[in-house]
Amino acid sequence: MRRVSIFHIVAVYTLLCVISVFAKDAKATQPVSQEVSGQISPAEDLMREHGVLNRILLIYEEIIRRMDNNETFPPETLSKATAIVRNFIQDYHEKLEEKYLFSRFRTANKLVELTKVLDRQHEAGRKVVDDIMVQGKFQNADDKKNLIESIRSFIRMYRPHKAREDTILFPAFHSIVAPKEYKELGDEFEAEEERLFGRNGFETIVRQVEDIERTLAIYDLPQFTPAKYKNLPTWEERKAKE
Ligand SMILES: [Fe+2]
Ligand SMILES: [Fe+2]
Repeated sequence: MRRVSIFHIVAVYTLLCVISVFAKDAKATQPVSQEVSGQISPAEDLMREHGVLNRILLIYEEIIRRMDNNETFPPETLSKATAIVRNFIQDYHEKLEEKYLFSRFRTANKLVELTKVLDRQHEAGRKVVDDIMVQGKFQNADDKKNLIESIRSFIRMYRPHKAREDTILFPAFHSIVAPKEYKELGDEFEAEEERLFGRNGFETIVRQVEDIERTLAIYDLPQFTPAKYKNLPTWEERKAKE
């Protein structure tokens, strides 16, 4: 009886070890984005989308710089960047903010005035993008002038808009939503992103932005470091000298 019992213990232990190895293997082979996506909070999700918007602002600035200097630029860079603004930022990111954040702040009677301004700016942004889409097919000098003005007004509004959301609105979101609901919202945002842009939708959009940056020769990051400080030592090199 005693020998059978030990046999059972050993058998169960062996089975548990095998299950554990398989579970580890399954986790190791899981795509990184899937593994990470469950842990992305609503604020992180929205902030990384602001990162995409920030890169679009850089693209717009480069297009304006070229127009100001009478340099050419591939027209599809403007149309592709503007399509990302319309589809990803305005029809997805901003809809999430309006539906899940602004409404909750109003119900909680917190940051009401700020959310009103942000909400109106979403609408204004949609009008400006309508203008950019029309003016982007510019035929004459006036069209070009209007296009530059529209893009400038877009950059001028969206830079403080997203900064205010990053520093005031998103941090305050924790205080009006229970932890369980906060986590569930992160999952909902991810599900909506996947529904609209497919699996790994965010990564796909980032790759599209990178393609536009490469076409405009603004992808390589070191070009933005001031030339006279370009070769300063890294953290490891500074530590090694101490
Ligand atoms: Fe917004
Ligand atoms: Fe936003």
